[in-house]
Amino acid sequence: MHANNVLDDPSRALAIDRSRMRDLLEGFPHHLEGGWGLGEDVEIPPFERLLICGMGGSAIGGDFLRAYLQQKGFHKPLEVVRGYRLPPLGDAAERTLVYALSYSGNTEETLACFEDAGRRGCPRIAITSGGRLAQLAHQQKVPVIEIPGGMPPRTALGYLLAPLLRSLLPALRRSQREAIEREFAETVGTLRSLSPLYAEEPEAENPAKRQARALFQKIPIIYGSAITEPIARRWKCQINENAKQPAYWDVLPELHHNEIVGWEWESPLAERFVYVLLRDPETEEHPQIQRRFRITRALLEERGRTVLEVRPPDETQGLLARLLSLSYLGDWVSYYLALLNGVDPTPVELIEAMKRRLAEG
Ligand code: PA5
Repeated sequence: MHANNVLDDPSRALAIDRSRMRDLLEGFPHHLEGGWGLGEDVEIPPFERLLICGMGGSAIGGDFLRAYLQQKGFHKPLEVVRGYRLPPLGDAAERTLVYALSYSGNTEETLACFEDAGRRGCPRIAITSGGRLAQLAHQQKVPVIEIPGGMPPRTALGYLLAPLLRSLLPALRRSQREAIEREFAETVGTLRSLSPLYAEEPEAENPAKRQARALFQKIPIIYGSAITEPIARRWKCQINENAKQPAYWDVLPELHHNEIVGWEWESPLAERFVYVLLRDPETEEHPQIQRRFRITRALLEERGRTVLEVRPPDETQGLLARLLSLSYLGDWVSYYLALLNGVDPTPVELIEAMKRRLAEG
């Protein structure tokens, strides 16, 4: 279809993907399984509120957990904290369980929250591959779930999310636990079968390669709703970090009260936008959200904008499989976009530069 197609030429692809992110993407189902096992032996105290602290590729595990558990009927307040301080806790600090998630263990915002939680007397758990967080947690006798090191944080989603979810199972009702265990097994199986499709099939048969092509030299604007909200964020971040290009995300129905007006912009630049609508099966979406997605598409297309609608590869599956398979598709899209852009997906020089300059004081 495309002459000298880098997407279908393994040796050219590996010349760009010098740090071999491809292997880590293929390993995702395995990371999830390994991470699940690591969460088995953690004892969590009774709690009434849950805070998951982290940034970037580590925090997204918290977003997925929140979206998933809320849909599974988990009724305790659960927030993801991105920043330096915990929210006000009133007199509930001792009943607020705080997870600090940092793949490297050296992210200053997460370390600050970890210390803040300690000062306020919150029970804590750390999930990390090492660094200062592991050190502090060991010193302060805080349980640590140690995950394998040496990966870019965003490729360690399986190792961050699975132990988090697994460690929380004892806090759930038996029926919820059993449903989650079933869905987890289904999810690993689904991802195992998707991995060779996304990794090996030629562009004509490969949805990840086709979608990357549609986003090449464009500015992706990704919209989600409910369970697809954190996936929209994940797609955006993966495109930024792997493909080194701008991408944006927003969420329905909120975007219909602000972002929508930006669709009026008449500029040659607007032709560069590609709108990606991340959908769940219609049976799962609120009827008004279905209508809103349909109207969104119509309004954009009437203005000549390009719209891609993307759904979970198998819409009949359980929630966790739909969530993680749609996210996995985005990981591969961002990977192929990196190849089209001719950039190694792994290095994130500007993130490192920001951290270095902050450390210089
Ligand atoms: O993907 C990345 O490299 C970043 O988004 C990091 O996850 C982020 O900077 C936080 O680092 P860590 O995940 O090590 O806490």
